Amino acid sequence: MLSKEENELITSVGPGTPMGNLMRQYWVPALRTSKIEADGAPVRVRLFGENFVAFRATDGRVGFFDEACPHRGVSLALGRNEDCAIRCIFHGWKIDVSGQVVEVPSEPAGSNMASKIKVNHYPVQEAAGLIWVWLGQGEVPAFPDYEFNRVPLENLKIIQAKTHTSWLQIMETTIDSSHVGILHQNWLKYMAGESRDDVSMRLRQDLSPVYEIEHTDYGFHAAAVRTMADKTLYVRVSQYIAPFISFIPVADETPKFTNIVVPIDDEHSIHWFVYHNADKPMNQDPSFFETRFGTNEPDLDNFYDNKGGVDNMWGQDREAMKNGHFTGVYALFAEDFVIGESQGAIFDRSKEKLGRSDTAIINARKVLLKAVQDYQNGKPAFGQGPSISFQHVDAKNLVLEAGDNWRKYLDTPVKQSVGAV
Ligand code: FES
Ligand SMILES: [Fe+2]
Repeated sequence: MLSKEENELITSVGPGTPMGNLMRQYWVPALRTSKIEADGAPVRVRLFGENFVAFRATDGRVGFFDEACPHRGVSLALGRNEDCAIRCIFHGWKIDVSGQVVEVPSEPAGSNMASKIKVNHYPVQEAAGLIWVWLGQGEVPAFPDYEFNRVPLENLKIIQAKTHTSWLQIMETTIDSSHVGILHQNWLKYMAGESRDDVSMRLRQDLSPVYEIEHTDYGFHAAAVRTMADKTLYVRVSQYIAPFISFIPVADETPKFTNIVVPIDDEHSIHWFVYHNADKPMNQDPSFFETRFGTNEPDLDNFYDNKGGVDNMWGQDREAMKNGHFTGVYALFAEDFVIGESQGAIFDRSKEKLGRSDTAIINARKVLLKAVQDYQNGKPAFGQGPSISFQHVDAKNLVLEAGDNWRKYLDTPVKQSVGAV
């Protein structure tokens, strides 16, 4: 559990908040590259409780600005995108990709007003079919070299959804292995039946995994160790990359899986589900997506078919439950969103009763609290710096003999052992 003050510290991400300041120091995905085309419509983007506008200029460069026109605050998302600049439709101020105001037609001829005004603009990178933005202060950190940022676009499938809950609730669920065999049990059974999926069968054999944590320069390895009926160990080693990314273990034959959970504001977040193959195009059977997202062809921009909220209990299907479905929720990741939203937009973590199965999230909170306090005290943002590479960070799905040590199979160094808990 956290004190009310600690909870507020790590869930408040708006402008000027300590956590908001820290989180802005990391590159975040903002929108798909395909959403903006040269001289096409600008797109409004909301992140960390602030509004921005993204556009692609005539020459292909991307501009990423504060949304409000510097003159009198009209949305630049309404603006004209032409001639390598964006022009506000109210009084016609023209702003180039660097954020410099270059024309103020509403002022008398000869005015030098334009040259003195600049809009806040932010560095961007295009990778994995996404436009990433850095909204921080000071020196821009290296762009993270995750494997999915380095593969061809045909090796990727990225699905996003918006949810009405704090980024922390959604992120915590991604690293909570112990819920998988319970909350998602129907979908696991289905997957096991359809694809002889070994992972699904193993997850259901031991519902109370023992966590072992190894801290790293960027977060930690969280090993959920399950003991199988034949005494072999099934070890799922997730990677937590602070503050909002997790790599989740998958079966060998399925695409690798990464979660990125980005705050829209304190009470809303975007969950990017990133699937990729290291060495071959994405050619997944559509049923793979049906179990996870509810349809063979999920809406890539918002798969979450929100069937309501607390007033109708998210459309939970009690008839399906009578007939054997554990949750009555229509898809695996919808289950995560429903339980996250049911906790309230920001759960009061001083009211929790945490157990051994919560070890991964307890450690994530420790990492976050230390990171935010260090950053407040003038230290660099945690998990960044020239010596840190994400090139080999990978989740592990291991079946081991009793007594074997999962740490032997890691690709990235550990810093501090927390041991079995
Ligand atoms: S508000 Fe944009 S030009 Fe006046
Ligand atoms: Fe889940």
